[in-house]
Amino acid sequence: MAGYKDGLAFRYLQATKYDRQKPLRDSLGHIPAPARFKVYPQAERVELTPPDVGQPADLWQCLARRRSERDTSPQPLTLQELSLLLWAAQGVTARAGGYLLRTAPSAGALYPFETYLYADRVEGLGKGIYHLEVGEFVLERLKDGDFNRHLTAGGLGQSALRRAAVVLIWTAVLLRCMVKYRERAVRYIAMDLGHVCQNVQLAATAMSLGSCPIGAFYDDDINRLIGVDGEEETVLYLATVGKLG
Ligand SMILES: Cc1cc2nc3c(=O)[nH]c(=O)nc-3n(C[C@H](O)[C@H](O)[C@H](O)COP(=O)(O)O)c2cc1C
Repeated sequence: MAGYKDGLAFRYLQATKYDRQKPLRDSLGHIPAPARFKVYPQAERVELTPPDVGQPADLWQCLARRRSERDTSPQPLTLQELSLLLWAAQGVTARAGGYLLRTAPSAGALYPFETYLYADRVEGLGKGIYHLEVGEFVLERLKDGDFNRHLTAGGLGQSALRRAAVVLIWTAVLLRCMVKYRERAVRYIAMDLGHVCQNVQLAATAMSLGSCPIGAFYDDDINRLIGVDGEEETVLYLATVGKLG
């Protein structure tokens, strides 16, 4: 009888170990490189506020106070708060030889993911789905409408999603990482997004907002909502954010 060691999770980690005696080989052939980051040229753009308007915060306090908060309030976020959350997630902090280096580390500086969001309640921003264009730090408006119920249902009915003022949605763009790391890429994409989400949680804490990482959802429901194909690009991680109290 097959046991857990025969399952995908075990086999994947074993098969993608670096080993001096056994160089990793694969039969994947040529892997085409996608664009370094996505741009929706037809989308209406929303300017985000640069980060230097943030209030100073003590890193040690933020680390000590960070918690996953699911019971956020009906109050809206400000556009400035959203800007700071997005800058914490994927702000460009240096440019080096064509690479846009960000607030969070990424294996090979490949950033094999995209940041989308559902804005339910943000002052000055209509309800809808947006994409972060990292190069210019602007939001691209993809879809207008109230998708709260849709997103909550796609997230297994979790109340954190229903209550959130904003839900950040991260997709994996697998080939962007596979070009360099081949089969090992899946390890790195998950690690990369862990860093991104931690940055968001620390930024939320610094602004006394509540946030919660969300890994449980019906993938293709969320993929359809944001308009990605679920193969070349597929949702991997969400985070809710809202006001506390
Ligand atoms: C990868 C990952 C996925 C998670 N998915 C969910 C989720 O779907 N729903 C949820 O309520 N919390 C989720 N969490 C939050 C964890 O439950 C939480 O981090 C854990 O209970 C520790 O609590 P703390 O974050 O407040 O320290 C997730 C956290 C991580 C890191």
